[in-house]
Parts: sequence; C-alpha cells; structure tokens
Amino acid sequence: MKIGIMGAMPEEVSGIVGQLETLRMHRIGGRRYLEGTWNGIDLVVVFSRWGKVAASVTATVLLSRFDVDGIFFIGVAGAADPTLRLGDVVVATDLLQHDMDASAIPLFSKFEIPLLGRSRFPSDASWMSASLAAANHFIKGDFEAWVSDEVRTSLGVGNPRVVAGLIATGDRFVTDAAFLRDLRKALPDLRCVEMEGAAVAQTCFEFAVPFTVVRIISDRGDDGAPVDFQNFVSKVASRMSLGIASSFTKTMFERVDSDA
Ligand code: ADE
Repeated sequence: MKIGIMGAMPEEVSGIVGQLETLRMHRIGGRRYLEGTWNGIDLVVVFSRWGKVAASVTATVLLSRFDVDGIFFIGVAGAADPTLRLGDVVVATDLLQHDMDASAIPLFSKFEIPLLGRSRFPSDASWMSASLAAANHFIKGDFEAWVSDEVRTSLGVGNPRVVAGLIATGDRFVTDAAFLRDLRKALPDLRCVEMEGAAVAQTCFEFAVPFTVVRIISDRGDDGAPVDFQNFVSKVASRMSLGIASSFTKTMFERVDSDA
C-alpha cells in the first residue's frame, strides 16, 4: 500500500518527512514530493500550500504521478462548533465547499458542485475509522509527553477531544464570528472550517480513491484567530500532526499485514 500524506503548512509535514526511510525527492509543479517508508508503509509526503486550487493540484499529482492508494490530509482548522476547544481533533465524516454557490442558476442549490450533483463528499469509512483510532491513540498516549504542560497552559489547551463530523472548506481564512454563526445556521452539523479538505475530497471522489481529513482546532475563526493560529501551529499542531500521522500509518500497516 502507498499512501499520500498532505499538509497545508510546512510545520505539519516537516516532522513526518524527518521520519522517512530511503528518502527520494521529486520536484513537480513547484512542490517537493518526498517518497519513503515509515512504520512499514510506503508514503509520499508533500506540503500542499494553502487553498483549494493548491490542494487539488497536489492531490492530482499524488494520484496520477505517484499512484497512491489514498490520501491522508492533516492540518489545523477554525472551530465552527462552539463546544470545540483548541487542540480538539476533528476527523471528517464528510466535507463541502462553503464558498461554492451557483444557486443563481435555478438548476443548482447552494454549496452544490455543478455537474457532480452533490455538495458533500463523504470520507471512506475504513480510512476514517483508522484516523479516529489514530487520533484517540495519540491523545490518550503520547500527547501529554509531546506537548508540555507549560505550552498547554499558555495556549489554553486542555485534554483534547476527538470528534467526527462535517468540515467546510473555502478560500478564506475565517476571522469573523458572525460569518461562522451564519454558516452554522445553514449547516447545523458543521464542526470546523479550513481551506483545503473538500478540494482533496472532491479530487479523490473524482478519481474514486479513499481519503481521510484530520483537523486540529487552532482557533475560533474570530478576530483572535491569526494570533492563536501562529502560536498554536508552531508549538502544538506540529507535534500533534506527527503523533497522529505516526499512529495512522501503524494502524494501516496492521490492517495490510492482517489482510496478507
Ligand atoms: N485553518 C485554521 N484556522 C482557520 C480559519 N480560521 N479559517 C480557515 N482556515 C483555517
């Protein structure tokens, strides 16, 4: 099995790249695709950059040039569900593009992707369950050792929860509590917002390949978001991404091994 691992921030993938054995680098379309093995699984790891186009281009290269069997995306997100706290982990059940609106044409509803006849892209059930298991395993295991008490206290991170739910994607870093409230009125099951996941989901859907998206809550999508975000990414998300990705690859290895 070969898995594509994507992150939208260098901090989210650099720790993973540091773990790869038999590393080979490929420069394609302005990105560096790092190929190697980790925990017995063949991987191609790449920093996608921000936004839906960047994510979709990167996913397309992983699928068409590297022939990966599926994509694991890890990154941070702004909370839309007010019960979520910094450090909580959201594993996508499904994703949609909150900035897609062709409803001026009577054929389409809001959020619907024209000509695909759908707005939501469901995650692959088996890959989603591996992500949930990986996130829970990391939070209950290494989390306290990997993210110091001092960092947790200074950033207001408690004992993270792992939840599954809807993720909305758009080409906008959300710093507007009113925008989020309105979005949640339209999508009451929405957990968080980010800038890449649904683009990866649509690309994988069109290639009929499994994917899973894991997001760590870095901010509340309000006017404090830019400050929370930068501190959180460098001190917490980088460590959590590495721990969850490690646990995910081990889970996938055990599954492949038990099928053999
Ligand atoms: N990723 C992390 N926080 C975000 C936010 N507030 N809006 C969009 N993407 C994000």
